[in-house]
Amino acid sequence: MVRVCFVCLGNICRSPTAEGIFRQIVAEAGADAWIDIDSAGTSAYHAGDPPDRRSAAAAAAQGVQLSGRSRQVTPADFDAFDYVVAMDSANLGNLRRIAPTPAHGTKLSLLRDWDPASRGQDVPDPYYGGSDGFNEVFRICDAGCRGLLAHILAERD
Ligand code: 4NP
Repeated sequence: MVRVCFVCLGNICRSPTAEGIFRQIVAEAGADAWIDIDSAGTSAYHAGDPPDRRSAAAAAAQGVQLSGRSRQVTPADFDAFDYVVAMDSANLGNLRRIAPTPAHGTKLSLLRDWDPASRGQDVPDPYYGGSDGFNEVFRICDAGCRGLLAHILAERD
């Protein structure tokens, strides 16, 4: 089993979008029996909430359904998951601080590190903006998720 957790701030916009896209492309690749997928937030601001309806609408327009309820990431997630994928550098810094040991930091990456065209860049926070931002987040997450899946499939070969 390969376990992947996407992490943003609120776990209602960016990380559920990445989770929904990744679920879909993993299923399309026939890999859903051995790739486990989740998402979480560095904050508990929206704990228990479903995905933001603006994120759900942007994803639905591209044929992707978002699921799950917001939860806060925990140190135990660093043992439960093989890939802890942060949406931006602020989330990445917070994740480094809660990692049980520095060695767990090897599980961390930025989502956009998996897209060769945008390594090191953040997925912008769409929360306080308009619908264009949510569509842009979808495109960015799609590119990163495809790169990450290609990596996991190549590692398995
Ligand atoms: P997310 O977006 O981190 O992509 O889920 C946000 C959701 C909520 C807030 C900020 C960003 N907030 O401040 O409540």
